[in-house]
Amino acid sequence: MEITIQPATVEDVDHLVWVCCGTGEQQYADGYRQDALEQVRGEVANSITSVIRADGTAVGRLRVVRTPELVEIAGIQIHPTWQNRGIGTEVITTIVREAGRPVELEVSKVNPNAERLYRRLGFRRVGDTEHDYRMRR
Ligand SMILES: CC(C)(COP(=O)(O)OP(=O)(O)OC[C@H]1O[C@@H](n2cnc3c(N)ncnc32)[C@H](O)[C@@H]1OP(=O)(O)O)[C@@H](O)C(=O)NCCC(=O)NCCS
Repeated sequence: MEITIQPATVEDVDHLVWVCCGTGEQQYADGYRQDALEQVRGEVANSITSVIRADGTAVGRLRVVRTPELVEIAGIQIHPTWQNRGIGTEVITTIVREAGRPVELEVSKVNPNAERLYRRLGFRRVGDTEHDYRMRR
């Protein structure tokens, strides 16, 4: 399976919304659509939102914020039908390999599956907020 990560355009916004909130509430999806449009128009500083594809099929979304000191995985989501096939692992491994600097992310305190994946890929807890752990590699 060939995994690619490609910056999203306005044409990809429907896909981003489908991955994010396909089964969720309309109101939430509408809110996310506005955020996604700002992101793909380049209106969010240092932030790139991408489409994750597996053998050409759009299966997920990724938002990465890069500064000289840090690469932050600000959002990663694989559509439920495509989870548990190694796609998330490959995407994060690629980001870490290309980063050349610390990589951080936040994971919900009630998302132990995602945290286990990040731990396996070398991330460790470095702090927390009310709802999330911050992890760094
Ligand atoms: C978290 C998330 C991004 C991981 O992506 P993913 O593509 O499912 O991740 P992987 O397939 O690489 O790894 C998930 C599990 O599948 C297993 N796996 C990897 N390749 C596999 C394969 N070929 N066959 C079967 N299982 C496999 C992994 O070992 C891992 O097992 P674990 O549960 O013991 O950790 C994805 O599940 C997701 O979008 N979740 C909902 C949103 C979310 O929680 N985002 C993160 C917020 S911080």
